[in-house]
Amino acid sequence: MDISIAIQLSSNPLLGLLRNLFKDMENCKPTFWPIYAIVLMAAALYCFYIFSDVYRSSSSSFSLLPSTPAKIMASNSSHTTNTGNSSLAPIFRLQNKLAKHIWEVPPAGSKMPHLKAFKLSKKLVQQRVKDNIIIVTYANYAFMDFVLNWVKHLTELGIDNLLVGALDTKLLEALYWKGVPVFYMGRQMSTIDVGWGSPDFQKMQREKAILIDAFLPFGFELLLCDSDTVWLKNPLPYLARFPDADILTSTDQLIPTVVDDSLEFCEQIHVHYNIGLFHWRPSNSSKKLAKEWKELILADQNIWDQVVFNDIIRRQLGPFVDQDSKVIYAYDGELKLGCLPSSIFCTGHTFFVQNMYQHLGLEPYAAHTTHQSCGTEGKYHRFREAKLLYDPPSYYDVPEGFLTFKPSIPKNLLLDGEHNIESHFALVNYQIKQIRTAFAIASLLNRTLVMPRIWCRMDTIWLHRPGDMVGSIMRQPFVCPLDSVFLVDVMVRGLPEEEFGPSIRIKEYSILDNPSMPRKVKDSWLDVDLCHEGSQGCQVSSYATINQTGVLKFPKNSSQETYWTVFSLFKDVKVLQFSSMEDAFIGFTDKLREEKFRKRMKAYIGRWCCVEDHSPGHIYYDIYWDEKPGWKPEPPRTPEDDHPPA
Ligand SMILES: *[C@@H]1O[C@H](CO)[C@@H](O)[C@H](O)[C@H]1NC(C)=O
Ligand SMILES: *[C@@H]1O[C@H](CO)[C@@H](O)[C@H](O)[C@H]1NC(C)=O
Ligand SMILES: *[C@@H]1O[C@H](CO)[C@@H](O)[C@H](O)[C@H]1NC(C)=O
Ligand SMILES: *[C@@H]1O[C@H](CO)[C@@H](O)[C@H](O)[C@H]1NC(C)=O
Ligand SMILES: *[C@@H]1O[C@H](CO)[C@@H](O)[C@H](O)[C@H]1NC(C)=O
Ligand SMILES: *[C@@H]1O[C@H](CO)[C@@H](O)[C@H](O)[C@H]1NC(C)=O
Repeated sequence: MDISIAIQLSSNPLLGLLRNLFKDMENCKPTFWPIYAIVLMAAALYCFYIFSDVYRSSSSSFSLLPSTPAKIMASNSSHTTNTGNSSLAPIFRLQNKLAKHIWEVPPAGSKMPHLKAFKLSKKLVQQRVKDNIIIVTYANYAFMDFVLNWVKHLTELGIDNLLVGALDTKLLEALYWKGVPVFYMGRQMSTIDVGWGSPDFQKMQREKAILIDAFLPFGFELLLCDSDTVWLKNPLPYLARFPDADILTSTDQLIPTVVDDSLEFCEQIHVHYNIGLFHWRPSNSSKKLAKEWKELILADQNIWDQVVFNDIIRRQLGPFVDQDSKVIYAYDGELKLGCLPSSIFCTGHTFFVQNMYQHLGLEPYAAHTTHQSCGTEGKYHRFREAKLLYDPPSYYDVPEGFLTFKPSIPKNLLLDGEHNIESHFALVNYQIKQIRTAFAIASLLNRTLVMPRIWCRMDTIWLHRPGDMVGSIMRQPFVCPLDSVFLVDVMVRGLPEEEFGPSIRIKEYSILDNPSMPRKVKDSWLDVDLCHEGSQGCQVSSYATINQTGVLKFPKNSSQETYWTVFSLFKDVKVLQFSSMEDAFIGFTDKLREEKFRKRMKAYIGRWCCVEDHSPGHIYYDIYWDEKPGWKPEPPRTPEDDHPPA
């Protein structure tokens, strides 16, 4: 799972986990810890026939009855190697039909094959295997966008030996019609985003180990990923560099143990080996591990699969199989383990926060959205900030246009003095005040706000105190993901308008630089320079004459009415870029609207974690800090004071 945690493995890892887990999940709500989940293969095989009958009788959306044989045989497959006998059992003919080019959609008017055609089997996998390796992810319908993004990144790299496990028929059907190779893992698994720790989550917890245990006997190498990962570079040559390793696993490591692209020193890693991305070779030892792992998980409902995996694989660690490659004996003393470097098989922190690969001059292979606490929305937003999400064209051309602004951060706030809580809050406070004004103007003009890049001086990595990052290559100040200051999930999911006023749409800071942004949007651009009222060229009367391609001078402290009067002339301009948000707006005329807007702003802002030796150990950002003389960044004194600022 991708659980965004780096855990100090103490003498009792499970206790350590629980303590840390509940200690301090900063910012976004813990109930939204995502799940990328899994499947119950073994049970699926048992339940298969029963379920397919149930499904057939209850579904009218597509036919699960087999297509006519003629139709099936008419399709040509360049990938099938195991057939050629037209009297093979129908089920295999159905499966062969699945082995075509990815993204090649089934012919219009054709019928979807029977659910049986999607059953996991050696034959089905074989159709997609290349060089004996298959890359797999799995999800339910709630995560289809992640899955499509994951597949697209691989196919863009020219890799098509991949398969997606669908936990529910809704995803199965959707992927089939998009031409994505899919197998069915589901029972009646929920199609919604299952909250972390919920009973459904616990059920799904068990499925990864079951899947691997079912897969390994096929004899193929399995590169298994959570769907909230993306591939940036073909990893197969890298994996092939370590032919001895039975398992190559990613880790939650934040501090490099190596500074090149070689494997990490597994024994120096005191956080989890992360099971959201790992590679298995079908050796006797790894099969044995998969079986034991599965059995332990099945025996205990409340156990976290990643903890169990770590416990058993670390049962014995060392000696090296080979000092040069750093592959090390693990588990039963015979299993050969390698730890993928977190600088290039990146965690959500090494990639999105540290940019470790850049500092080390390396090319990253994968990014995993761990170390992030704003749920699925937060993950999507991180991918978007990094321009790693394939969004549809409509995402880039919003009807009411964009509002963007230059944050013009004073240099001293960014660079002077030491990086500490005070300097961090001074810097963030400066930015959130501007952002708040930008939100008001976006609301007024009903435009989509392009969030600025936010700069931080202190990291927001819960479960780690600042001292824990000693030896990391983290640079300060740094551009921090939006989720380190704002509750991205709340912003994206929306708030009721009766209570919080009109909703305000946001986009990531990088959207205007995204290659998918159409030229016609960027060409329709107006720069707005804030000016002091009364200075030359700063009169409202002159606006009508301003060319849409020129610079518009606009007085500071303008009223709602002035905004409406002036910007109604530029309704068709796609991008308005303000030179600053400092004193840009005096506030809504309608006091009720102002009140609701303030409520919205307060609901958007998060908190900073990580105060040492204090409980509660976080400090709330106060988006209206400037209205409170003498405001200081201080944690709540007592648990009773532990609530967002009024
Ligand atoms: C089917 O495959 C054969 C041989 O690979 C090829 O010659 C033929 O054009 C293909 N037919 C279709 C309909 O793609
Ligand atoms: C195809 O399979 C049938 C029955 O499974 C068998 O009798 C036949 O000889 C096979 N034909 C070829 C060409 O392999
Ligand atoms: C793996 O296990 C099988 C069955 O127990 C055995 O026949 C085989 O020799 C083992 N392979 C290795 C490489 O140990
Ligand atoms: C604001 O823009 C959205 C999206 O284009 C539109 O649906 C909505 O009706 C607009 N609201 C107002 C008050 O114009
Ligand atoms: C305004 O635009 C028109 C045509 O686009 C151009 O001819 C004119 O010179 C512009 N005026 C100013 C003041 O830039
Ligand atoms: C805008 O208004 C604020 C608060 O009323 C005031 O402090 C500030 O000086 C004004 N700025 C300008 C440029 O008028």
